[in-house]
Amino acid sequence: MRWTGFRRVRRQVCRRLKSRLKQLGLDDFTDYAAYLLAHPDEWSVVDACCRITISRFYRDAPAFEQLCRELPKLLHLAITRGDKSVRCWCAGCASGEEVYTLKLLEYFGLPDAEISLPWQILATDIDGHLLSRARRGCYSAGTLRELPQAWREEAFTANEHYCLKPAFREGIQFEQQDIRQQMPLGSFHLILCRNLAFTYFEPSLQQQILSGISQRLVPGGMLLIGRRESLPHGWQELLFPVSDRGIYQNITSSGWGQSKI
Ligand SMILES: C[S@@+](CC[C@H](N)C(=O)[O-])C[C@H]1O[C@@H](n2cnc3c(N)ncnc32)[C@H](O)[C@@H]1O
Repeated sequence: MRWTGFRRVRRQVCRRLKSRLKQLGLDDFTDYAAYLLAHPDEWSVVDACCRITISRFYRDAPAFEQLCRELPKLLHLAITRGDKSVRCWCAGCASGEEVYTLKLLEYFGLPDAEISLPWQILATDIDGHLLSRARRGCYSAGTLRELPQAWREEAFTANEHYCLKPAFREGIQFEQQDIRQQMPLGSFHLILCRNLAFTYFEPSLQQQILSGISQRLVPGGMLLIGRRESLPHGWQELLFPVSDRGIYQNITSSGWGQSKI
């Protein structure tokens, strides 16, 4: 983890850690440091306390508008390669807001093409509880506030919560994975990794993650990162910026199995 990444959310993390101290009956962080030395398993609690889960639909609208303009290129890329589907991976998907936004983008934003392919979407997160919520696909109104109104009205049934209609939950697979330990097998035409590795992880871990991501992008495939994020040292050898909205294209020729960082 890198402390500067937590600048905007550190109160939340400190509050969680203080509540843990209270639970353990410890006086201060010096005592907690000693406790951690004596109980190494406790590091997983610290790790969980450092997880920021904020997300919402259509977060950073200009990025999704730009991505929408790139979708036909990704479809074309998959068709040219002879792939049977357009494969996307959403890393750190929280409660599903981002991955369902992608699904809505594909449904509402892609022009009717003569040739089409199914979109196969994998969404991963370290937090099983968030993944259960993602699978349910029900949200409060506030989470949807940035989503175009017409999409909201067509894609959700509104009662106490806004729940995605089944058609908009199809083709998405959710898996629990810690991106530091494990990444999906296979290759993707599009990877979204926003407000996770390139915000909260320290530089050498960021490089490791970027290397893993670029290995999983097909040549010409695209990566979307968060609005306030930048890529770690060495990215220029792997990727080319498509726009100033955090979209990068894999410029390496071999993709899977190679690592330059
Ligand atoms: C701030 S949210 C970002 C959600 C979404 N990508 C977005 O930009 O709106 C970060 C997400 O990353 C997940 N996360 C944190 N550490 C992770 C790890 N090591 N592996 C996979 N997911 C992780 C958290 O559980 C959380 O859901």
